[in-house]
Amino acid sequence: AIAILDFGSQYTQLIARRVRELQVYCEIFPWDAPQDIVLALNPKGYILSGGPSSVYEDGAPTLPGYVLESSLPVLGICYGMHLMAHNLGGHVQGADHREFGPATIEVAAENDLLPVGSQPVWMSHGDRLEALPQGFEVLATSPACPVAAMGNPAARRYGVQFHPEVHHTPGGKDLLRRFAVEICQAAPSWTPDSIIQQAVEQIRARVGGRRVLSAVSGGVDSSVATALVHKAIGNQLTGVFVDHGLLRLNEREQVEAAFRRNLGVNLIVVDAEEQFLSKLSGVTDPEEKRRIIGETFIRTFEAEARKLGEMDFLVQGTIYPDVVESSGPDRSKAQKIKSHHNVGGLPPDLKFELIEPLRYLFKDEVRAVGEALGLPAELVWRQPFPGPGLAVRCLGELTRERLDRLRRADAIFTGELEQAGLLGKKAAGVEKVISQAFVALLPVRSVGVMGDCRTYEEAVALRAVTTDDFMTADWARLPYDLLGRVANRIVNEVKGINRVVYDVTSKPPATIEWE
Ligand code: XMP
Repeated sequence: AIAILDFGSQYTQLIARRVRELQVYCEIFPWDAPQDIVLALNPKGYILSGGPSSVYEDGAPTLPGYVLESSLPVLGICYGMHLMAHNLGGHVQGADHREFGPATIEVAAENDLLPVGSQPVWMSHGDRLEALPQGFEVLATSPACPVAAMGNPAARRYGVQFHPEVHHTPGGKDLLRRFAVEICQAAPSWTPDSIIQQAVEQIRARVGGRRVLSAVSGGVDSSVATALVHKAIGNQLTGVFVDHGLLRLNEREQVEAAFRRNLGVNLIVVDAEEQFLSKLSGVTDPEEKRRIIGETFIRTFEAEARKLGEMDFLVQGTIYPDVVESSGPDRSKAQKIKSHHNVGGLPPDLKFELIEPLRYLFKDEVRAVGEALGLPAELVWRQPFPGPGLAVRCLGELTRERLDRLRRADAIFTGELEQAGLLGKKAAGVEKVISQAFVALLPVRSVGVMGDCRTYEEAVALRAVTTDDFMTADWARLPYDLLGRVANRIVNEVKGINRVVYDVTSKPPATIEWE
């Protein structure tokens, strides 16, 4: 495995993802993590991330002593390179101006990290290296950087000023492969099958003969987590799926088929539509909807769990980005925009031990594991769906009739996008592809004409966004023909809708969901 020390770069998770894509296991640690925790990984090498600081700044993160004492290979990226150079007697200087964006590096002679010739890279730095530490040589230069890459091959220590982890450095993957696989000799054994095998062993050892409960939401993470635990312990696992009546078209049937029929999971489906809709009757305020749904969900889940008797564990679909982010800077002071609610969230007064089998996996790894476990593509490649479901996409009052209308319009839109290869499995891996797309039913009616008759019906908005992290998002530039076809089909096929608009706001200032 490779240990990645995080010095505060916005790209640290990308470094880890790129290394995992090489099927080499790696973990991210804060730069000041206790030494024994990092060493417990038994790393074959270290990658030092970039970061916003300058090595001479007061309070700037420092290089922990164990890294250079270990004599293991080290790759410093940007600030990570400055830090290593600084510690080994090199000289870092505040550059006259910052360099941000594309650049071209020149490599005079083939070396351990880089092939000879020029290649495009992505730069983002203020400081730069002026004098090499002893034993190091220049591996690459760029017009603005006399040392774009450096190395001491005998000591297996390397540094790059550019960012090999971002897409804008096309040769970055090869550089990371040379470092992780060739220089560190880390085994590329992190495959879906080995991930599953390790998880299964761990779960069996931990659970023994005890009983496990899982809240299945139909989302990718909870589905894969449940399937993985089921593979380990079979019918010691019970899944509970709460149908709150706010699901997408055929979603419940898909979940039942995948778990009960295909995998043989002992799945309890709670039909709670009536209960949720009656609690939500007449409620139009978005925060109030969210509050009621969160609370009703917990009550319903709790009641079901009590019926099952003593349960020892609860499965959670926590994935690695959640873990990394929660150990990062404190965001609790950020202003609340929406009260997020996760179906599958822990009922506060039920006491379980948690099983989090996806805790060290990135989303793409979760999907690969899901496929290897035999989950159907429509679950594995499902776009994210908010815990409160269609409630936050059905603006105004929630009635079964309006929800049905929304469900049918939504299925037309997402179906057309999938058909066009813009959403779902076919779209995966393609950059700038749609990350999330849905229909929102608006609380307005407008006048139309159909045949020779006046109509006065509801309007829907189509929403499709591209995003890397869902914190910011851009509206998707969908083909006009596709938009036209979707509008036409919705108005013709869904009774009660006579107008379709396309949402062209990005986030910020809008959010992705409408409520
Ligand atoms: P917004 O609307 O805040 O959404 O731009 C960002 C992402 O979060 C999803 N979302 C939720 N997910 N529970 C969830 O699990 C929620 O309450 C919730 N609200 C929004 C949204 O679909 C988008 O992917």
